[in-house]
Amino acid sequence: MVDLLLGLQWGDEGKGKIVDVLTKDYDVIARFQGGPNAGHTLEFDGIKHVLHTIPSGIFHENAINVVGNGVVIDPVIFKKELDNLGKFNIDFVKKLLISRKAHLILPTHRLLDAASEASKGKAKIGSTLKGIGPTYMDKTGRNGMRVGDLEFDNWKEKYRELANKHESMIDYYNVDIQYDLKDLETEFLEGVATLKKLKFIDSEQYIFDAMASGKKILAEGAQGSLLDIDFGTYPYVTSSNTTAAGACTGLGVSPNKIGRVLGIFKAYTTRVGSGPFPTELFDEDGETMGRVGNEFGATTGRPRRCGWLDLVALKYAVQINGVTELMMMKGDVLSGFKSLKVCTAYHYKGEEITHLPYNIEAENVSPVYKEMSGWDKDLTKMTTESEFPDALNAYIAFLEKELHVPIKIVSVGPDRKQTIHR
Ligand code: GDP
Ligand code: IMO
Ligand code: MG
Repeated sequence: MVDLLLGLQWGDEGKGKIVDVLTKDYDVIARFQGGPNAGHTLEFDGIKHVLHTIPSGIFHENAINVVGNGVVIDPVIFKKELDNLGKFNIDFVKKLLISRKAHLILPTHRLLDAASEASKGKAKIGSTLKGIGPTYMDKTGRNGMRVGDLEFDNWKEKYRELANKHESMIDYYNVDIQYDLKDLETEFLEGVATLKKLKFIDSEQYIFDAMASGKKILAEGAQGSLLDIDFGTYPYVTSSNTTAAGACTGLGVSPNKIGRVLGIFKAYTTRVGSGPFPTELFDEDGETMGRVGNEFGATTGRPRRCGWLDLVALKYAVQINGVTELMMMKGDVLSGFKSLKVCTAYHYKGEEITHLPYNIEAENVSPVYKEMSGWDKDLTKMTTESEFPDALNAYIAFLEKELHVPIKIVSVGPDRKQTIHR
């Protein structure tokens, strides 16, 4: 069976941390979608690591890490990631396997992303500008280049043809994008050379064989359910299926082989980039969450927008993904708030609704809040649930009651050790 770990909000829920914590129980960790738009942070032994393409099980001796067919890989960023980990003595050839069917992000995909965003003006998506949208467009348009193409002698011709097409598309946007393709290509070729040092595999077969031999597999999601191309806040989303079904197509795993679905959420909500966010705060409370939670994007460094927990959106994500267990992150950030708010419904067209409507722009919905007591105690040194303040227990109990799913992990700080199992 393959277990899934998925972000239930707009990304940055703490997936990297939890995958790292859980890896000891798994043989294989596999990314199934997204690309270097992801920034997954892990902290242990006083060191902080940010991973973009490499699965978050890479620091464990026992685990094989697979980059699945649904992922898009930028060889340039990939090389940087490997170089950054150079001093940690990781045997990448043995521990990091790459799907031949994963698509490649070309330098011109990144330029196209920038051109598209520039042309949108105020309506921009707030993309991480890593070339994700254009690469998935080429994938679904059946024009893309895949990792497996690099094993053929003519791959540079294929590259040239695609890059030329992209250049004329960039011209079409008619925006001011400065670039030197020669420099970008040099970097790209270096990246490809590094990528080619790793083992390319038919990852669907690898995963199938691993399952058949009783190995335990954890699929690591990137982004979050509300950024899903189908079910997120379109068009302010990413270009892949970030939800449970994405793991089936992104790894070649059939639905009846999915086991536990671990859904991860922050005790409040954040979003980076544009798009609707009904519980967003523009006051001191939001500012406090951002400051205490150190809410800056792990990939772009942009400040994350902050707001109260949105149960309407969270319920929707639990439903779409079939979440079987929940993990609540960053509870420690809420210490010190006198009272907490949780959005339990939306005012929408004169009605109170508890499902996510087609359009959740601020002019259409306003949150209905339940107010709960806050807690003062610092949670970051706690190691068991028995130390939790009553108000935190009440917060957890309320969420479990509303979501009908148990909260099995409460995270009280960024470090691996600051993780409480219930
Ligand atoms: P991901 O993209 O889902 O892996 O999450 P990110 O790494 O982008 O963002 C989560 C941030 O919160 C990182 O800086 C983590 O180190 C940090 N973090 C994770 N869990 C906790 C927690 O329980 N408390 C606090 N204070 N920080 C946390
Ligand atoms: P992790 O895996 C948070 C957001 C961007 C933008 C939108 C589209 O770290 O949780 P894209 O680059 O995909 O074209 O951007 O999606 N976004 C993320 N936000 N966490 C992420 O990944 C994200 N990946 C993309 O900010 O709003
Ligand atoms: Mg992140």
